[in-house]
Amino acid sequence: MSAPRIVMLPGDGIGPEIIGAAKRLLEAIGEFEFEERLMGGCSIDAHGTALTDEVLEACRAADAVLLGAVGGPKWDSTDPGAPRPEQGLLGLRKGMGLYANLRPVRPSPALVSASPLREERIAGTDLLVVRELTGGIYFGDSGRDGDSAHDTCEYSAAEIERIARVGFEAAQRRAEGSGRKPRVTSVDKANVLETSRLWREVVGRVAPDYPDVELNHLLVDNAAMQLVSRPADFDVIVTENLFGDILSDESAMLTGSLGMLPSASLGADGEPGLFEPVHGSAPDIAGQGIANPLATFLSAAMMLRHGLGRADDAARIDSAVDAVLDRGLRTPDLAGEGETAVGTDEVTEAVLAELNA
Ligand code: IPM
Ligand code: MG
Repeated sequence: MSAPRIVMLPGDGIGPEIIGAAKRLLEAIGEFEFEERLMGGCSIDAHGTALTDEVLEACRAADAVLLGAVGGPKWDSTDPGAPRPEQGLLGLRKGMGLYANLRPVRPSPALVSASPLREERIAGTDLLVVRELTGGIYFGDSGRDGDSAHDTCEYSAAEIERIARVGFEAAQRRAEGSGRKPRVTSVDKANVLETSRLWREVVGRVAPDYPDVELNHLLVDNAAMQLVSRPADFDVIVTENLFGDILSDESAMLTGSLGMLPSASLGADGEPGLFEPVHGSAPDIAGQGIANPLATFLSAAMMLRHGLGRADDAARIDSAVDAVLDRGLRTPDLAGEGETAVGTDEVTEAVLAELNA
């Protein structure tokens, strides 16, 4: 069997540093063929657009795509005509059909004190945000007309149904062998939005196909509140694109650092997925060698698990990351008062050492 082909998209800011570290990690795990491409601000600088057709084609043809981060102040502009790094990411999601975004939130036991919430609040938190990724207000009609602007939110029943099924199936998989009842919380704004009323209706219609799963509906404002007041009660949260964007950042903070959250974006069966840390390009610390590579490592683990069918290798990475945190190694974003912070290279070396231990 030939080595899996992985397109690496380092992107901007700290992206090249964390993707460089992930490459070392993957080389220690097995044989891969890497192809590095420009996407985001770096592609705007080189080609005038955040995502070229060639790069989209290369991603479609790969076995998996690993992305660093895109964006930075250099490309910030309110000019609607100016190219934006984020367009590259959105173009990839749409162009690769990546409708399901999985963002697991499991505070590492060694990091509970890094959370802004009290330890007893987050104890036992282990949740998964399943975010719809190719519909809603992100992709609806938008525009400016003189002094006004509009963004349209649209969802079809088919789009809602397929993401609901991803949520239910993920809940079943997570509960397997645990003896606990799988739970899905569907988040919407059905008291105000028509798309949300359709969402609630379709999720409810699909639910009987998963009789073992307990389904609850929450309004998004209430969900935002419950996430900080009782995070450990959540299992799988399934929600639309914009709500998922917001709630996943909120959930990420439960772990004490956005720097710890990985993600997988998946499309149809057999099509390549895209894997990336949830944190951004952190331009303020780019090039200093202090970026936290752990969310990228955990994203590489998700790539092995969900994209390449190599769950054992994925588990090895997950435990190596846990072990390194356990030993007290912290990049500055995680280091508490009195803790010494180390750089990207040291953390990477420590993870590699754990892999070989
Ligand atoms: C994310 C990011 C993106 C989003 C941006 C960079 C377009 O915030 O992946 O959560 O809003 O989806
Ligand atoms: Mg976001």
